[in-house]
Amino acid sequence: MTEQPIPYAKQWITRDDIHGVCEILESSFLTTGPVIEQFENKLCELTQARHAIVCANGTAALHLACLALGITDNDLGVTSPNSFLSSANCIEFCGGRTDFIDIDPLTLCMSPESLETYCREKAVPRVVIPVDFSGIAADLPRFKSLSQTYGFYIIEDAAHAIGSTYTIEGKRFACGSCAHSDMAIFSFHPAKTITTGEGGAILTNDDALAKRLRTLRTHGMIRSKDQNQGQSSANASANIIDNTKEAPWYYEMKTLGCNYRITDFQCALGLSQLDRLPQFKARRNQIVSLYNKAFQANTHLILPPKELASEACPHLYPLQFKKGEKSRLAIYNALQSRDIHCQVHYIPIYWQPYYADKYGYAKGKCPRAETYYSRTLSLPLYPAMTDDQVQNVIDAVLSNA
Ligand SMILES: Cc1ncc(COP(=O)(O)O)c(C=O)c1O
Repeated sequence: MTEQPIPYAKQWITRDDIHGVCEILESSFLTTGPVIEQFENKLCELTQARHAIVCANGTAALHLACLALGITDNDLGVTSPNSFLSSANCIEFCGGRTDFIDIDPLTLCMSPESLETYCREKAVPRVVIPVDFSGIAADLPRFKSLSQTYGFYIIEDAAHAIGSTYTIEGKRFACGSCAHSDMAIFSFHPAKTITTGEGGAILTNDDALAKRLRTLRTHGMIRSKDQNQGQSSANASANIIDNTKEAPWYYEMKTLGCNYRITDFQCALGLSQLDRLPQFKARRNQIVSLYNKAFQANTHLILPPKELASEACPHLYPLQFKKGEKSRLAIYNALQSRDIHCQVHYIPIYWQPYYADKYGYAKGKCPRAETYYSRTLSLPLYPAMTDDQVQNVIDAVLSNA
């Protein structure tokens, strides 16, 4: 029998998932129906955040979060260079200026020390977007404490971290709880821990932000039944007398929003997937343990931050090859030839021509993120991976490392 290709990530869809989706396809509402709220409620239950607003994808979630904070022309936002483009692009979408804070090589997340130095010596951003890289919580309590000193907003990019937790003084918090942030976001892309096809969510404990996010998700529109959401205007529009304002069909747009809605059938898939999150988390951790056990004695390898990972629902397994770029490429190709498909997370975002050209960012800006990038490879990690497939990956890595 020929071996199945092993991708770096893969969704796990069951009959129950399919049944859940089909039930909605046969119902009255494909979008803006009741399943949206059911999924949102379940995300609140999981994270203990007061509000969840589901939307089209994780990028839209980050964009909405920045819009809701009022990020605008030339506002400074900072994020980790070790992330997907969206963590930075959301600031640019709003006309803001984006800068990058180097990572802590132990956590691979934004370094609180580097952020503090930046605030003290360079500038205080309006928004800080730490990323829970690979499913391990960024040091959110430290960021929160810095935000109290310097007065910036925090959006936790938890796209990798649904199901992960962190503990402070004996108290456990879910990634996405917003206990130490203004908002948090999840992504439900198929490579992530649970999927809705495309999808995302914003979480917050702030009632006003939640209202704004819901309005911005749907064109900035307020319907007559929700009229008290808007602020009365002292502008030219106040002179437009519309006698239909009390009518049931009436709607009004006071701010520019987007259509970032998600469908009910996607949320049905999300609800069904959330039921299996504990199973996904357990299996992901099992695979990580198998990898760690196999690789820990090899002095050419640097394991992912395992001592911090006890509470993580791991999304990635970023293994570093101390011999550097050449060795990483050789191993990537050797695995590829065995139909084992790895990925690299991430090229430092400021190396992208858009950022380098716009801001003059150059090589050497965030040396720790660059060193990490030069030697990392994300090995396959998904819950439906069999032990035999895990062993194939281990054998291929060890015979080439
Ligand atoms: C850290 C991070 N943030 C944001 C996103 C954006 O999520 P989406 O692909 O759902 O737009 C991703 C997706 O890859 C991500 O990895």
